Amino acid sequence: MRRNIVITGGAGFIGSHVVRLFVNKYPEYNIINLDKLTYAGNLANLKDVEDKPNYKFVRMDICDFESFYQLMQEEKVDGIIHLAAESHVDRSIKDPFTFARTNVMGTLSLLQAAKLYWESLPEKYEGKRFYHISTDEVYGALKMNHPEGIEPPFKTVASSEGHKAYGDDFFYETTKYNPHSPYSAAKASSDHFVRAYHDTYGMPTIVTNCSNNYGPYQFPEKLIPLFINNIRHRKPLPVYGKGENVRDWLYVEDHARAIDLIFHEGKVAETYNIGGFNEWKNIDLIKVMIKTVDRILGNPEGHSLDLITYVTDRLGHDARYAIDSSKLQKELGWEPSLQFEEGIEKTVRWYLDNQEWMDNVTSGDYQKYYEEMYKG
Ligand code: NAD
Ligand code: DAU
Repeated sequence: MRRNIVITGGAGFIGSHVVRLFVNKYPEYNIINLDKLTYAGNLANLKDVEDKPNYKFVRMDICDFESFYQLMQEEKVDGIIHLAAESHVDRSIKDPFTFARTNVMGTLSLLQAAKLYWESLPEKYEGKRFYHISTDEVYGALKMNHPEGIEPPFKTVASSEGHKAYGDDFFYETTKYNPHSPYSAAKASSDHFVRAYHDTYGMPTIVTNCSNNYGPYQFPEKLIPLFINNIRHRKPLPVYGKGENVRDWLYVEDHARAIDLIFHEGKVAETYNIGGFNEWKNIDLIKVMIKTVDRILGNPEGHSLDLITYVTDRLGHDARYAIDSSKLQKELGWEPSLQFEEGIEKTVRWYLDNQEWMDNVTSGDYQKYYEEMYKG
């Protein structure tokens, strides 16, 4: 069946993996990658699919209501997978207004345009879907009441051997929202607007909340690509606070597979948590990265440990995130495909093998790509 799907934020990290998956898996679909190309958008992330007949790129700001409404009509859009956002917590602490504009007003603008267009059709909301991608950060922070880590009462394929949980509690779909950073406050607000459009107008919406993603094409302001690049160039590794904060890591392609499954088979008005039961203290993860990069580069073990530099903590730094994704696993049969050891090895190798991509991003040259490719 032909579908006309807009994926917002498709030039970003997770969005580019979702676009690639959909373009390759569904040749019968019309996939429109809608992205403003902020500093975080990089069309070089999609070089391998840009010539496919079922792919189109549209440069647009999600806050531009008129243009998006027109696009909905012209392309007869029946599905929206919404990833476009300002995504970096540190930036939100310095510039909260941009986060409110894009994440809240941008999401609202898409919702309202979709509402007006879909309600104008004879079949109205039938066969339509507005799928909003959100984060586990909306739930706030969990307690670290087992600082040494305990064996969790579950096993999943994603759990590393000897995997630990650093507290008894997890984020469930029923966990009360309690965002702390301007980023998560803006994402929480956008989640509420999405649910309000279902509850008020009957729009077929879905929300998913995912844990920290890692893998290829992530902008090197985020912990994993930043540190891999710094280790390679023997630059300091700025560890916030004591490095004791815990994050729950999921390989980005596993998130993209979950998005595909939920877009097609998820229940309208439901929320699904996505995560791999894969908690790591930052400092332990950093040591794994150091070990892996040193091994691949042929450095002696421990060579780069001296780069670790403890710096002032992030303001309001959330102690621990840990997602319970049992609902998704039980109801839709999703499982993460990679053990963390494999995922981190693949990721380190990708960044080391794609130094040109990294150099283009760190030099700012990637921003010329759009001008060359799309403006002739
Ligand atoms: P990213 O920063 O890598 O990419 C964001 C993309 O959105 C970029 O291509 C950017 O150009 C685009 N964009 C930003 N503002 C826009 C606007 N006003 N109009 C149109 N496009 C705009 O982000 P990411 O890490 O890929 O995250 C994607 C989504 O997933 C976000 O909604 C984020 O909240 C959510 N999420 C991320 C993670 C993670 O670990 N990265 C985890 C859970 C959820
Ligand atoms: O949990 C999902 C969230 O994960 C997403 O919603 C966000 O979009 C995404 O950016 C990510 O947020 P984090 O703040 O957890 O990711 P970040 O890579 O910025 O930081 C990971 C951890 O590492 C966090 O505890 C802060 C710490 N850190 C980060 C950087 C960049 C450092 O110690 N030093 C650093 O230089």
